[in-house]
Amino acid sequence: MSFVAFERVCKTYDGIANVVDALDLAIAEGEFLSLLGPSGSGKTTTLMMLAGFERPTAGHIRLRGKPIDALPPYKRNFGMVFQNYALFPHMTVGENLAFPLAVRKLPRAEIEARVKRALDMVQLPGFEARLPAQLSGGQQQRVAVARALVFEPQLILMDEPLGALDRQLREQMQLELRGLHQRHRITTVYVTHDQAEALTMSDRIAVFHQGRIQQIDDPQTIYERPANLFVASFIGESNRLAAQLVEAGADGQCVAEVTGGVRIRGRAAAACRAPAPATLSVRPERIAVAAPDDRADGDNALPGRVEETIFLGGHVRVRLRGAAGEVVANVPVQAAGAIPPVGAAAVARWPAASTVVFPG
Ligand SMILES: Nc1ncnc2c1ncn2[C@@H]1O[C@H](COP(=O)(O)OP(=O)(O)OP(=O)(O)O)[C@@H](O)[C@H]1O
Ligand SMILES: [Mg+2]
Repeated sequence: MSFVAFERVCKTYDGIANVVDALDLAIAEGEFLSLLGPSGSGKTTTLMMLAGFERPTAGHIRLRGKPIDALPPYKRNFGMVFQNYALFPHMTVGENLAFPLAVRKLPRAEIEARVKRALDMVQLPGFEARLPAQLSGGQQQRVAVARALVFEPQLILMDEPLGALDRQLREQMQLELRGLHQRHRITTVYVTHDQAEALTMSDRIAVFHQGRIQQIDDPQTIYERPANLFVASFIGESNRLAAQLVEAGADGQCVAEVTGGVRIRGRAAAACRAPAPATLSVRPERIAVAAPDDRADGDNALPGRVEETIFLGGHVRVRLRGAAGEVVANVPVQAAGAIPPVGAAAVARWPAASTVVFPG
């Protein structure tokens, strides 16, 4: 039995379009699950239904097997952190944290102990007497997290909690929230449209598009084995090449011919049969660029001409154009010596295992 289960959950606001469409989602106890997707894909709506602020138009949500459709938000015992879930400015940090406990009528000594514990959890011990205005943005957000943890919720829901922070602070907070989760294992559902954030923090990522989950898997699987072209292009960067499938083995290994006649080997994302049109997807960091006479047996090799090289610190970005179209490669600086000059003939090489083949 899952900790949380969405069963065929639909939500429409206007009675016409489902912004969440027949959603099935099982959340395991203790996991950190991110809902990742573009703006308007239904992430917040999904979270709001779980929180109890929105009701599903159809379907059910279960918690430990019991339907919670009729349970109001305050009875669900979930902690919540939102992007602009501001602290009460006239209350100290301690009073802000004590507030949800006072509402729950806990005894005074218990409240003090819990406030202290929650501040320790977010690494702000002794900050009780400060006012929010006397804290940095990151510290305020940590207090907001502490306020969500202070009543020891069985589930914590976060909607773009780091959206208002600058990049450096956001990356630091990502690691802190991840560390917090690893120490305490409170089941967490985390909404973001930032793929790097989801990859950094999650045990699993559910990729949303148009109210449906396109793929739900651990970060590495999402990145290395995207289930469809939407996931391949939304997560990270990828080259796409139009091709014609010429061989498709039962084991998923296949061969496709790109424009210009070069045959590329790869693995199929879904069952497919040759001949059929296909799209190949390759990550730029999987591609090496070398002179055309360079031999590397076993790899795919696509000839072209170097159009542009850009030095980006850790890697060199190379744009290569051939009969099959444009290919972008991110070459680590220590391998950049092999890149032919702009205008020269070159070959892009990458392993068959790094080529994902999508039907259509
Ligand atoms: N209260 C509402 N009334 C009517 N339509 C709504 C309401 N809330 C959301 N929508 C619509 O439902 C769709 C999904 O919205 P939702 O807020 O769930 O998206 P999201 O994935 O969280 O996007 P974002 O990344 O921009 O926050 C959008 O088309 C949005 O316009
Ligand atoms: Mg949202």
